[in-house]
Amino acid sequence: MKLLSVTSECVPLVKTGGLADVAGALPEALKAEGIAVRTLLPGYRAVMAAVGKAKPVLDLPDCGGAPARVLAVKHAGLDLLILDAPHLFDRGAGIYLDETGKDWPDNIERFAALSRVAADIAKGDLKDWVPDVVHCHDWQAGLAPYFMKLDGAKAYSVMTIHNIAFQGIAPAQKRGALGIAPKDFIPGGVEYFGNISTLKAGLMFADALTTVSPTYAEELMTPEFGMGLDGVIKHRKDVLTGILNGIDQTVWSPETDPHISTYKTPRGKAANKAALQDEFGLPVSDGPLCVVVSRLTEQKGLDLLLEALPTLLARGGQLALLGSGDPALEKAFQSVDNPNVSVRIGYDEPLSHRMIAGGDAILVPSRFEPCGLTQLYGLRYGTLPLVALTGGLADTVIAATPASMAREVATGVQFSPVTALSLSNALSKLCDLYAQPRLWAKLQRNAMKQPVGWDSSAKAYADLYRGLAEGT
Ligand code: ADP
Ligand code: GLC
Repeated sequence: MKLLSVTSECVPLVKTGGLADVAGALPEALKAEGIAVRTLLPGYRAVMAAVGKAKPVLDLPDCGGAPARVLAVKHAGLDLLILDAPHLFDRGAGIYLDETGKDWPDNIERFAALSRVAADIAKGDLKDWVPDVVHCHDWQAGLAPYFMKLDGAKAYSVMTIHNIAFQGIAPAQKRGALGIAPKDFIPGGVEYFGNISTLKAGLMFADALTTVSPTYAEELMTPEFGMGLDGVIKHRKDVLTGILNGIDQTVWSPETDPHISTYKTPRGKAANKAALQDEFGLPVSDGPLCVVVSRLTEQKGLDLLLEALPTLLARGGQLALLGSGDPALEKAFQSVDNPNVSVRIGYDEPLSHRMIAGGDAILVPSRFEPCGLTQLYGLRYGTLPLVALTGGLADTVIAATPASMAREVATGVQFSPVTALSLSNALSKLCDLYAQPRLWAKLQRNAMKQPVGWDSSAKAYADLYRGLAEGT
């Protein structure tokens, strides 16, 4: 089976969040299922520089107002198709944001062009390679299932929601320029409260929908989590599945991680913890060293952590945080004046490994979390996750209760509702558990045993693609 994956980011070439990790790791996992994946990615400046010489496979005389090409190249185990459209993607600053931190004004046009090319490939324009299924990720690829239907492409389409907060909204006046037919600018099509939503286009026109955890699939049907699209999701719930993300264990495994002092059992964490305390200038302490590696946004609930922090500190706990994003949150964390709190603002992949390896616990107090990857890293490294009971966090962490501990399956701490008070209680509970070393070690062993790789999820995607292709 041949699959085209359409994504705006992909590890190791370009990443702003978990989507890049998923798009980068899933192709290799699908290989084992007999599925050959080609990944269509924008030719951002950094991508063009990293891949070097690539073979032109398709000329596009008019791609969003100027000529462009599709290039084919193998890179880091990925079979890439790169949309080389300098007028859209050869820019400095960020892939979505300009140098002032604002969205590029033509973001909708840039990713509509990517989606248009995906549909061209689905239609057979590459001649020697026609996909059976096109897998579209988030709003950036949302118009692809629509264009495929408009063109009568034979390939099937799958639309995955990684985060419904980003909906690809554009004013109605852009309809013609984006290639949306007047007949489809209706509530049952791509129209969304008087605007265009490219995500809604994908949700309405794809043959199958997925999101990245079973709990988020349910949550999306509620007004609180659906963010205006809950009605659309409910309308299409028969074709929606929640499939959990995995992590790439060639990159994230304490036994082989080149960034840390490697270990096989939780005891091996001690050297990493000491090194991390040293690196962050934290004193040796009797309490748990908690780490956070995160975008600093409203979604991640870290403002609640600021409020609940005194509880952790009163119990001898420590916090090491790495993140960037909202300037107000960055400032708030940097202004915490306590010897047991240390903050690094920025994005630093090797440091994130050292933190996951050296921490006792990882905190993920998100208000919503479609899946979340850092709690999975935490499990793999015996760094116990303390998480909000929502989305993929609810599906991947087994809360320590008398029953789960008796069955030896508990792997962390969960809290609900997502408030500072309930987080504060959860931090107390974490400290209670940490104060019982044998119990804590047991939880760490349970965590490290939990499967967090791609095997079962890759199989679920493969079954979904095959089901579409075979009409079952
Ligand atoms: P989201 O995609 O919503 O940001 P995920 O948990 O799915 O959340 O994925 C976030 C990814 O980005 C993880 O791989 C995490 O380690 C990484 N990450 C986030 N912030 C940083 C940072 N400041 N430095 C290094 N890695 C980061
Ligand atoms: C989004 C979500 C995150 C998820 C990631 C990859 O960025 O916020 O929860 O893990 O996509 O699917």
